[in-house]
Amino acid sequence: MKTTLSIIKADIGSIGGHIRPSEKLIAEVRNYVAQKGKVIITDFFISHTGDDIAILFSHKLGKGNEKVHKLAWDAFVAGTKVAKEQGLYGAGQDLLKDSFSGNVRGMGPAVAEMEFEERPNEPFLFFAADKTDPGAYNLPLYLAFTDPMYNAGLMLSPSMNKGFRFVIMDVNYTEGDRVIELNAPEEIYDIAALLRDNQRFVVESIYSRNNGDIAASVSTTRLHNIAGKYTGKDDPVMLVRVQGAFPATGEVLAPFNIGHYVAGFMRGSHTGPLMPVRFNSPISYFDGPPVVACHAFCVHKGKLTEPADAFDHPYWDWVRNKVSQKATEIRQQGFSGVAMLPYGELEYGGIVEKMGMLEKKFKVKK
Ligand code: F6R
Ligand code: MG
Ligand code: MG
Repeated sequence: MKTTLSIIKADIGSIGGHIRPSEKLIAEVRNYVAQKGKVIITDFFISHTGDDIAILFSHKLGKGNEKVHKLAWDAFVAGTKVAKEQGLYGAGQDLLKDSFSGNVRGMGPAVAEMEFEERPNEPFLFFAADKTDPGAYNLPLYLAFTDPMYNAGLMLSPSMNKGFRFVIMDVNYTEGDRVIELNAPEEIYDIAALLRDNQRFVVESIYSRNNGDIAASVSTTRLHNIAGKYTGKDDPVMLVRVQGAFPATGEVLAPFNIGHYVAGFMRGSHTGPLMPVRFNSPISYFDGPPVVACHAFCVHKGKLTEPADAFDHPYWDWVRNKVSQKATEIRQQGFSGVAMLPYGELEYGGIVEKMGMLEKKFKVKK
């Protein structure tokens, strides 16, 4: 029997601005899933990263299962009720539709799922990022799955010698899921040519070419493509299987020491470095910096262990200091040039009106 891991996450309200959900809200979502999920799921885990609350489900029902998705949706609706009672900021923000219809995809919450036959021991990583979009994972995934400078196993381990297959999605296409499949190492220049554009092309999933197994799955939702207006950044989640035929945990973590610049930060409209943080870290400086947390689990017969906090180590304190410096450097140039995102990515419609108004005031000199 195969195991399915599903992460479904949403921002349904937070305290003190877009900082973090309240304890009461988290408890409500947890209690709801514990009570109503008994016959549907095998196990679950609730976490929050910045203002987002994520439910990790382990179950036997496969990807995109209506019962699992409805359980998450209803838990978020119950949480939203508490958020409204407490007067939390942005209560119900990511629930973009009035009622559930079959699958939470396209309804606001972000989803990353994978189904596989469990190995005798099955370690995996659950990443959750806030104040950024799904393209934030492009560079770390590229480096961890194609580059022997980061993944020594590509040179040393016979179980990874055939490389990996990347499924990359064009997230600007809204009529359906427009994807391309490319193989590493033969096509890494093509993979790089797409993945350099984090706002348009996003890694959706990665497969081992040694055994065909799923290795990684990323939530590819872009909220402004669904809502047609600003609703907050997309704050992506990701699952990565590790060890054996997959990169070692440390090889997947390694590229996060770059603190690469991603889209997001204040008002979802700036460029900022991605900071690897401990579990349940809030948001602070300039509504950021963009953060990513990593929960390392094992799953066995569908049961989850407790998570290990992959970024809770003195090494990452040094990285966090370096990233703080990078954040300060780019912030010093305020709105100028690359410090802010291009026009089409500014997630506040106000700029469109402002530009329209200014447009009328332009004159061509005689
Ligand atoms: C970015 C984010 C925040 C808000 C900002 C203004 O994803 O959530 O930076 O954009 O705090 O929020 P509003 O417009 O709700 O006052
Ligand atoms: Mg938010
Ligand atoms: Mg968020």
